Amino acid sequence: MTSKQINPWQSVCDKAELQPGQFVEFALAHAETGTAKSTDTLPLTGFVFLDGATPRAYLNQCPHMGVELNWKPGCFMDVDNLFLQCSTHGALFKPRDGECIAGPCQGDALTELDLRETEGILEIRLPE
Ligand code: FES
Repeated sequence: MTSKQINPWQSVCDKAELQPGQFVEFALAHAETGTAKSTDTLPLTGFVFLDGATPRAYLNQCPHMGVELNWKPGCFMDVDNLFLQCSTHGALFKPRDGECIAGPCQGDALTELDLRETEGILEIRLPE
């Protein structure tokens, strides 16, 4: 019987300090080492924000080409402030579920991260 590796929960920020319109970015911890997890070339990163009053967290990786969505820290929204937008080719994603509604990866979606609140601290992990 093999034991399944569980991705670790990691603290991201204090929920009470997360402001509407604010995006908190982070590097994902590696399941075995607890240190930053990386792809072949880049560290794997994510972001958390408030969708209305609901915190949501996604992997910062566009389903089109696998690059990070933002080119500037904390800038993830389109000019109308309605959708998450990839800065490379402009794909638009619904904040609620990460579905791409326009652009080269239309119909695909961002990877949602598991999210929980423990004693006021938002914690995330890669889904299994
Ligand atoms: S890399 Fe994001 S839309 Fe092309």
